[in-house]
Amino acid sequence: MRNLTPTSITQAFADYARDAPSERTRTLLVGLAGHLHSFVRENKVTQAEWDAAIGALTRATEFTDDKRNEYILFSDLLGVSSLVDMINTAGSGTPSSVLGPFHIEGAPELPNGGDLWKGQVGEPLVVSGRVTDGKGAPAAGTVLALWQNGGNGLYAQQDPAHSPTNYHARLTVADDGSFAFSTVRPVSYTVPDDGPAGDMLRALGRHAWRPAHLHMIVHAPGHRPLITEFFPEDDKYLDADAVFGVRAGLVLPFRKVTDRGALPAALAARDSLPMPVWAATIDLTLPPA
Ligand code: BEZ
Ligand code: FE
Repeated sequence: MRNLTPTSITQAFADYARDAPSERTRTLLVGLAGHLHSFVRENKVTQAEWDAAIGALTRATEFTDDKRNEYILFSDLLGVSSLVDMINTAGSGTPSSVLGPFHIEGAPELPNGGDLWKGQVGEPLVVSGRVTDGKGAPAAGTVLALWQNGGNGLYAQQDPAHSPTNYHARLTVADDGSFAFSTVRPVSYTVPDDGPAGDMLRALGRHAWRPAHLHMIVHAPGHRPLITEFFPEDDKYLDADAVFGVRAGLVLPFRKVTDRGALPAALAARDSLPMPVWAATIDLTLPPA
């Protein structure tokens, strides 16, 4: 095609893609190019501005390895990870949320009623609840993948002082769908902001904080894995999450319990759990199979 203009280039791109082997891929890439072209035209993007954008993407490679992915962080901080999650989530059941970078495969088994806290820094927290399907039947056989940061704000992968699986676990619920464990109360923390995604936050006058949360992937037989996270309702960053992960149905009261007898039986029997203790109830409803 010759004699392209700033307007006709968009149709030219679509024409070049007319023989794409996949219709869906053609739709997505032609749409993406069309939005980018409109963005450049509407904002009269300068060469220096486009060079800066390419420079940020180039620099992202330096911050990406098998432990960190700066491109996913851009997606998270731009709200795209959350948007993709929200438009693909089931309309019923416990809402899903973003995965984040700290999930690990093959975390150690934690017995139901077990302890992740082990007296480490921070305030102990007892979590208990039940997993049921949309009709209230217990979801026996469900495995919960759990991970969170420690009381010092660090995930195990960021904290050389602890084992690489600290505060990571897999717990199989009881036949009635119930589960309980003790852990530390997670704390709010900043996402890694020393790379180009952090530069973008600073250019926008934004902060890097996430409200405290407990991550979970619910693996229930016959259901797609549900990736989600739960937030204490008193966290000051609930309405300012850097990665847009908070959903109303994922915000929970964290109560101070002073009566040991009010704890789930397996945890009430554990004398090493100091009282009073924080407690949260997480009742999970599976989305339709
Ligand atoms: C997290 O929840 O751990 C997280 C999510 C997105 C980006 C960075 C961290
Ligand atoms: Fe997290």
